[in-house]
Amino acid sequence: MTLTSPARKPLPLDAVDLTDHDNFTDGELPWRMFDTLRREDPVHWQPEPAPGSGFWAVTRHADIVRAGRDPETFTSTEFTNLEEVDAEHREIRRSLLETDGPRHRALRRLLQQRFTPRAVATYEVFLRGLTARTLDAALAKGSFDFVREIAADFPINVLARMLGVPEHDTRRLIDWGSRLIGNTDPDYADVLLGTEASERYRDLPFRSPAALEVFAYGRELAARRKGAGGGDLVSRLVNQPPSDGVPLSSRDFDNYFLLLVVAGNETTRHAITHTVLALIDHPDQRERLRRNPSLIPGAVEEFLRWSSPVHHFRRTATRDTELGGRRISRGEKVVLWFSSGNRDETVFDAPHRFDVTRTPNDHLTFGKGGPHFCLGSSLARLELRVLFEELLPRLSDIRRTSEPRYVRSNFVNGVKELGVEVTLA
Ligand code: HEM
Repeated sequence: MTLTSPARKPLPLDAVDLTDHDNFTDGELPWRMFDTLRREDPVHWQPEPAPGSGFWAVTRHADIVRAGRDPETFTSTEFTNLEEVDAEHREIRRSLLETDGPRHRALRRLLQQRFTPRAVATYEVFLRGLTARTLDAALAKGSFDFVREIAADFPINVLARMLGVPEHDTRRLIDWGSRLIGNTDPDYADVLLGTEASERYRDLPFRSPAALEVFAYGRELAARRKGAGGGDLVSRLVNQPPSDGVPLSSRDFDNYFLLLVVAGNETTRHAITHTVLALIDHPDQRERLRRNPSLIPGAVEEFLRWSSPVHHFRRTATRDTELGGRRISRGEKVVLWFSSGNRDETVFDAPHRFDVTRTPNDHLTFGKGGPHFCLGSSLARLELRVLFEELLPRLSDIRRTSEPRYVRSNFVNGVKELGVEVTLA
């Protein structure tokens, strides 16, 4: 059975477990769990393995949007992943993502102008060249792993350029990115989250020792850029004071740099791979785009909805409140399952159908409307558009040669291996 199968057997509510990462290595099961939750218990108390621990799983579109737009009630400052982080470590690890209020706005403003649609459009020529080189090298092989040969390196190459990282260091960035985010998957992580060994790395983002290497590397770049007037993101961070008058500490810099490396790397990689998988499984949709490339910019929204590369981000209730008819107590974790919102049948007609002409397409892939809305959304959209504008005309056919292997994670919805075989146009 594939991700694309429209008819799913309903899953009983007591079979739902969003904490078990193994459930997410099956392309079908997460979607069945979300279908059940939206239908039967849209704001569901999900116990976690640690005694007394659990979270509210918010799975309907409207409730996710409501909570995401109300940072005063649903804060990010208590951290945005499921992992419990104590107060001391929260301060050490805090980045833009885990900051609210005026400081968040000041930090975001530092780079906002570099991520507008107009600013990222300046990378299009570079991107097209990079895409052409990546595709021509991979497609010439005839049969290959799509993730490794095409999807993996592509987004980080773009970020490396925006950060001003020299080309010969890009490989190191890719490896760090994978090791950081894949901290629940033994294929990627050096230290698995939740194991005793991970306790030693409580100070580090994702509890991953790879973070130390990223910090050291970022500081080296920062030292070279300080006072040098370059236009890259690192230069901007080290040379421009935040608008709230509070200088960027070296810790602020470390965590900002690391966030940039991680946020746009795996997410865009998985968006690309899920999309190619969908286009393989829906040759009619692929053919429509191939015949009429002007549909691609609109189709990118469906690529994003369909792929939902981030399953969730977490908030914490700052006061007793209500959401979706449930009473939520101050201090409880509230987890917004964006991927589930993207299949909400009250918002999307036939949500399990992949339809490249779907309009409207009010997906939650980047969050929606709240202060933490993805900073890199225009960049991700551009990357997807350019990649598929370049890929589709080169192909007369593409087939799977193996079943996709999914990342073992309830956080990133990722594909780590996808064997394909191509016939060139
Ligand atoms: C398809 C690819 C991407 C997906 C699915 C994605 C998803 C998300 C989501 C859901 C959030 C909201 C987090 C929250 O609500 O707590 C977010 C925030 C963020 N994203 Fe992305 N992202 C993608 C690409 C990128 C890229 C290319 C960058 C570039 C560096 C980026 C940088 C960021 C940053 C810095 C934030 C934090 C914003 C803030 O807290 O104000 N993302 N992303």
